[in-house]
Amino acid sequence: MSKKALKIGHRGAKNHVAENTLASIEKALEFKVDAIEIDVHKCASGELVVFHDFTLDRMTNGSGEVSKHTLKQLKNLKVNDQYEIPTLEDVLNIIDKKCMLNIELKGRDTAFTTCKIVSEYIKTKQWDLNHFLISSFQHQELEAVYNYNNQLRLGVLTKASVSDAIEFAKTINAFSIHPNVALVTKDNVSLAQNKGYKVLTWTVNDQPTIKRMKAYGVDGIISDNPDLI
Ligand code: G3P
Ligand code: MG
Repeated sequence: MSKKALKIGHRGAKNHVAENTLASIEKALEFKVDAIEIDVHKCASGELVVFHDFTLDRMTNGSGEVSKHTLKQLKNLKVNDQYEIPTLEDVLNIIDKKCMLNIELKGRDTAFTTCKIVSEYIKTKQWDLNHFLISSFQHQELEAVYNYNNQLRLGVLTKASVSDAIEFAKTINAFSIHPNVALVTKDNVSLAQNKGYKVLTWTVNDQPTIKRMKAYGVDGIISDNPDLI
């Protein structure tokens, strides 16, 4: 029998409400997810904003790089004509420990500010270390988090190789490996788990693949349709 996999909303509940918005996070919470994955970038005034792309064009009425805009400028834009771009703190305040938060660092110097914010929520708002999972494709960013506080849970993202991700995971004492669904096999799930890592796969949106991932024994499924898990 397959074991229970964590139900993780991708960018909130991306297929239900515009990705990485507070409304999308709220929708994922309605689906009683175990965790929510979001993406963060650093903007020109130094704050972390929750947004996937490096540029504003696809999702907003603005254009150009996120990192070249101040928070004030970004807050004046609309996502899908309707929603504000949230900051990391906006998301933390909505989640308020109702589930775990997987913060994906999109890089260009997001690690330090993320660590500061996470540490503050742990210190002053009774969040726990295991409410957080910080993941990235960028090894430098993960190393920066590890050097800041080696107790923070880290996830190594990969769309290239599970075994390479495992090799790197050792160096930062990672909690989990996050392979693209196309890479996942029963064997590499076992390989990662035997070395002590959880396996959280993305982005798994249809029932047959969800079923297959569960049969392979993954620990978590990151989905645009978390209601299906
Ligand atoms: O964290 C899983 C997944 O979100 C990684 O890829 O491009 O959707 O951020 P992407
Ligand atoms: Mg992501």
